[in-house]
Amino acid sequence: MNNMPHQKLLIIDFGSQVTQLIARRLRELNVFCEIHPYQVITAQFITELKPLAIILSGGPASVLNNDAPRPPEIIFELNIPILGICYGQQVMMKMLGGEVEQGQGTAEFGKALLTQKNGYLNLLDGWFESEHEQVWMSHGDHVSKIPSSFEAFGSSPNAPFAIIADRSRNFFAVQFHPEVHHTPNGIRLYENFVKLAGFTGDWTMSSYQENTIQKLRNEIGDNKVICGLSGGVDSSVTALLLHKAIGDQLTCVFVDQGLLRKHEADDVIKMFRQHYNMQLVHAKEDELFLNALKGQSDPEKKRKIIGKLFIDVFQKYANKIDGVKFLAQGTLYPDVIESVSFSGGPSVTIKSHHNVGGLPEKMGLKLVEPLRELFKDEVRSLGHELGLPDVFIGRHPFPGPGLAIRCPGEITRPKLNILRNADAIYIDQIRKHGLYDEIWQAFVVILPVRTVGVMGDNRTYDYACTLRAVTSVDGMTADYYPFSHNFLSETATRIINEVEGINRVTYDITSKPPGTIEWE
Ligand code: XMP
Repeated sequence: MNNMPHQKLLIIDFGSQVTQLIARRLRELNVFCEIHPYQVITAQFITELKPLAIILSGGPASVLNNDAPRPPEIIFELNIPILGICYGQQVMMKMLGGEVEQGQGTAEFGKALLTQKNGYLNLLDGWFESEHEQVWMSHGDHVSKIPSSFEAFGSSPNAPFAIIADRSRNFFAVQFHPEVHHTPNGIRLYENFVKLAGFTGDWTMSSYQENTIQKLRNEIGDNKVICGLSGGVDSSVTALLLHKAIGDQLTCVFVDQGLLRKHEADDVIKMFRQHYNMQLVHAKEDELFLNALKGQSDPEKKRKIIGKLFIDVFQKYANKIDGVKFLAQGTLYPDVIESVSFSGGPSVTIKSHHNVGGLPEKMGLKLVEPLRELFKDEVRSLGHELGLPDVFIGRHPFPGPGLAIRCPGEITRPKLNILRNADAIYIDQIRKHGLYDEIWQAFVVILPVRTVGVMGDNRTYDYACTLRAVTSVDGMTADYYPFSHNFLSETATRIINEVEGINRVTYDITSKPPGTIEWE
């Protein structure tokens, strides 16, 4: 990873909730950055990485504690620009001869207005065009004295040293968080910072594509690669990138476990075979999965059965391809960032998520993960560059266990068919109303209850279903989507009229937490 030719910025993470946002802002400026936790940063690490600039993130610790986290001293001797944010500012001050005080009664959380002080500072180009700049603060401690080489360039009533700099060394430090939306002009600070550090904006998707293709060719040589293709954006982009790099040395395996949505298998297979002429195995294994799931209604048991079978099936098809040395996975950057945990301790398993973890070791394969450096929206723009159609790029996430976790209780083929039909209408409605891209995920759940209804002059006794739609940034928390009553009643009418087997539609208005997005 460190041999990539692009310019790099190092973010040393002290555990702020918003460190990833710093990376997002920088990537928007076409600057490549890597986030690493402070624990792994050594002098040697930095020498090998060769960053053009360093940012010290915020974090929950207090520099006043004896064991407060610190970056290595060497960062101040590299002759490169440094920007400290919040805790990053305080730790810089502590190490460079300033002072930090505990914020007794002066803690600042939320919006603050800054006033400019002293003369010109290149970091602040485009700032203070009106009298005040709005910023977002979140700190308890604050800097109370700065070393003589530093000057203050902006202050708030509670933070006299809100913006400080040592102009001769290009060291900058701010008390607030320029990366959050509540600092509306924050992006300008990052833009100025990377400019003065000499970044040329060489991180673009087309350069990434070229470099990665070259790197994949070198890494893989004339070996063969297999890739599990689900039709989701991550696995699709992984497959397309590899296909472009190594052509027929790549075989994709699409496992149809009988738990896919209406027309899903056909759409995915057709798209990849016709448009890309790719070697693609369509593993039709619905019998295997649905037989194993017969009579099972416990959510965790269902997940375990599916997870295990998926690996068995994948392995079975992979074994049929001679000379496979690599397994490709669509791992993204947020999955590989080692997060800084101050609380420690294992978290409770809410659901056993389904993935192909453990497969590479079991099969003696090496992993290739061409998207490991990318955020989700970068994967989407790479997909765009690779010609992946918009309907694939913008797709809502679909879980590995598929419709099994949208069918509480026992899974049967008739129930799955009813669910598929209702889901297709619901998504069609969402698309027709132009809401698809506003929603993180939307789907129907078929409930394990039947209810009495009346259609025409006849009594009905059919399944009830519920509609789920949420907004979210990362799936970790979510709010239910506020559809209009018109939308809901129109959709309910269509489902009841068009889907045989459903006579009642409800809408799930649970957020996450306390609910989860899926029902199981
Ligand atoms: P929950 O239901 O845990 O879901 O709130 C959060 C997000 O994860 C998806 N999900 C999965 N994705 N394998 C996956 O690849 C799984 O086993 C799995 N379970 C849930 C879910 O659809 C939502 O986007």
